[in-house]
Amino acid sequence: MRLAPAKTNLFLEVLGRRDDGFHELDTVFAALALADELELEPLGEGRIELAVEGGGGLVPADPGNLAWRAAEALRAAAGRPELGARILLRKRIPAGGGLGGGSSDAAAVLAGLDAAWGLGLPGERLWEVAAGLGSDVPFFLQAGLQRGLGRGELLEPLPAPAAELDLVLLFPGFPCPTPEVYRGMAPYYPGVSGPAEPRELLEGLALGDPDAVAAGLWNRLELPAFARWPRLVELRDLLLEQPGVLGALLSGSGSTLFAVARTADDAARVATDLSRRGLPALATRTAMRGLTSAGFAP
Ligand code: C5P
Repeated sequence: MRLAPAKTNLFLEVLGRRDDGFHELDTVFAALALADELELEPLGEGRIELAVEGGGGLVPADPGNLAWRAAEALRAAAGRPELGARILLRKRIPAGGGLGGGSSDAAAVLAGLDAAWGLGLPGERLWEVAAGLGSDVPFFLQAGLQRGLGRGELLEPLPAPAAELDLVLLFPGFPCPTPEVYRGMAPYYPGVSGPAEPRELLEGLALGDPDAVAAGLWNRLELPAFARWPRLVELRDLLLEQPGVLGALLSGSGSTLFAVARTADDAARVATDLSRRGLPALATRTAMRGLTSAGFAP
C-alpha cells in the first residue's frame, strides 16, 4: 500500500502571468497527514486497469484520471509500451478542493510503478514526467515541506520544521475551478508594495511557533476567489471566530479552507463543532517531516 498525501500551501504569492498562460509562483507547499491510498500491481500486455473507491462519484475510473495518465506517461518515458498495471485508488482527499489529491495520486503512481516495473528511472526523469502531468505533481515525489517557484514545479526542500501544525479543513461544498481563479487574478498582482515574502512563515516553522506561522500565512489567490465566491469569506471568518484557531487561509485555489489550531484538541473540537452545524470539516496535521507509514517513500 502506498500513501498519497494531500497538500496545502502555507504561502502562495502570484508574481505575474507568463506568456504560456501559466502564472509565476512563489509558494510553500506542506504535505498533510490526510492521504489517499493506492495499491499497484504490474499487468502484462500493456493493460491498465483502474478502480476507485470513495470520492463521491467525482473521481473518474478511466483514462481521464491523472493516475491513469501517470502510468501511461511513465511507460512512454521508459520506452516500454508493453508494461501494464492494475491501480486501486482509495480516495480520502476530497476532489477539486485545492488539496492536490489528483496530483498526489499521479506522483504515487509514478514512484510506485517505477519500483514495481523495475525501471529505476533517475530522479530528474521522474521529475520531468511529473512536471508534464501538472504543476503540483513534482512536489509529491518528495512531499514534506518545499518551496515551489516557476509554475510550482521548480522545488527547493526547506529545513524540517520544529513541529507539525494542527489543522482544521473546511469544505464549502462547491468547487473553485483552478483556471477560473487564476483568470480572476488580473486586478490583484502585487502592486507597488511588491510581492509578499514567506520570511515570517519560515521563521515560525523553524521555531515551531504556531502563532508566528498563523501570522505568516498568505495566499494571493484569496483575492480573486473571495471576490468571485463571497461565501468563502464568511466561512473563513467563521473559522477565525472559533476558540483555539490562530489563523485561516484558502488552500491553493480553493475551495477548501484551512485553519491553524493551537493544539490537536482544539483542531478536533472545532472540526466536530462545525460538522455538527452541517459544515463538513475535519481535523488533520501537517506531514512536513514526512509520512511515517509503510509504503510512502520520501
Ligand atoms: O498545471 P495544472 O494542470 O495543475 O494547472 C491547471 C490550471 O491552473 C492551468 O491550466 C492554469 O489555468 C492554472 N495555473 C496557472 N499557473 C500555475 C498553475 C496553474 O495559471 N502556476
